[in-house]
Amino acid sequence: GKGEHRHYMLKEIFEQPQVIGDTLASFFNPTAQTISMPDFPFDLATIPRITIVACGTSFYAGLVAKYWIEQYARIGVEIDVASEFRYREAPMEKGGLSLFISQSGETADTLAALRYAKSQDQHIMSIVNVPESSMERESHAVLHTHAGPEIGVASTKAFTTQLTVLACFSIALAKAKGAIDPTLEARLCKSIAEVPARVTEILNHDESLRDIAHSVAEARDVLYLGRGASFPIAMEGALKLKEISYIHAEGYAAGEMKHGPIALIDESVPVIVLAPSDSNFEKTASNTQEVVARGGRVIFMADKQGCEKMADHSMASVAMPDVEPFVAPILYSIPVQLLAYHVAVHKGTDVDQPRNLAKSVTVE
Ligand code: M6R
Repeated sequence: GKGEHRHYMLKEIFEQPQVIGDTLASFFNPTAQTISMPDFPFDLATIPRITIVACGTSFYAGLVAKYWIEQYARIGVEIDVASEFRYREAPMEKGGLSLFISQSGETADTLAALRYAKSQDQHIMSIVNVPESSMERESHAVLHTHAGPEIGVASTKAFTTQLTVLACFSIALAKAKGAIDPTLEARLCKSIAEVPARVTEILNHDESLRDIAHSVAEARDVLYLGRGASFPIAMEGALKLKEISYIHAEGYAAGEMKHGPIALIDESVPVIVLAPSDSNFEKTASNTQEVVARGGRVIFMADKQGCEKMADHSMASVAMPDVEPFVAPILYSIPVQLLAYHVAVHKGTDVDQPRNLAKSVTVE
């Protein structure tokens, strides 16, 4: 049941420290402080290229992984939504790795894409939450998220556990490829091990996010901005808001604003900016100032130092823990989930069962 929580979605958001820890436990060796993978029927060191295919929130998890794998393991990653990938007859290099991400393991388009990749002599790997699912059965290798049953139609804990698996996989891949030195590897492993504790800290912001949500609930359109691995989190934040509050929202790469969407900005548009302290921070901050100069109402999510730098420009800010940039996408998922949740509750929508949506999309 929902226990003390008003909705399954809220319960599932608050379960994240636990289920991220459970997921991590299958890869993390606490004594050696290292990450390892189960044995695969192919050699990670010789993978020439990776293709990632998924739908919806699982697709955004894959998009974060593209940034991680390219940066740390130095392997090219192609990514597409399954409904496009399955029909476009993509040429695939023999021996490549195809990775399918799905909470249910039953999404029709993702399963069809998996079968196509198999016909193209790819190594097939899936990341699923539901054991024994169709995708698991048809894959050469499988990694599990240990999110437990996810009841809310809006995916939350499945997403952050997918990111957890993908983060571990990225480290293992980087190591197998000889692409990272031991010092960086140790730093990444340490940062991922600390994620459950950091998520708990962020969940304490629940009340301030509720106050911010009340100001967002009146909006007709909301923009979410991020750069690098924060860009997929911006899109995920926008998807969460659309799904459960029915407010139109878009996630944009912050650097794309001046190529069109900045024309939308006026006093009525809340702009949520995700700006962890990484090599993109200054650029995101300057994109934010451009938004403010056009009257946009900025909600700035950054660590304490980042929030202070932008204090004069933001309508509100969310102070995040100061973490290794590698794990920022996992942590910044939490406030965007809570924000969408509180907007929806404020509007009185059916949070766990939003209109027109099904938990598992098993038809095309
Ligand atoms: O079970 P899957 O992960 O394959 O589902 C994919 C999407 O249908 C799913 O993530 C959907 O976008 C959620 N409603 C997002 O909250």
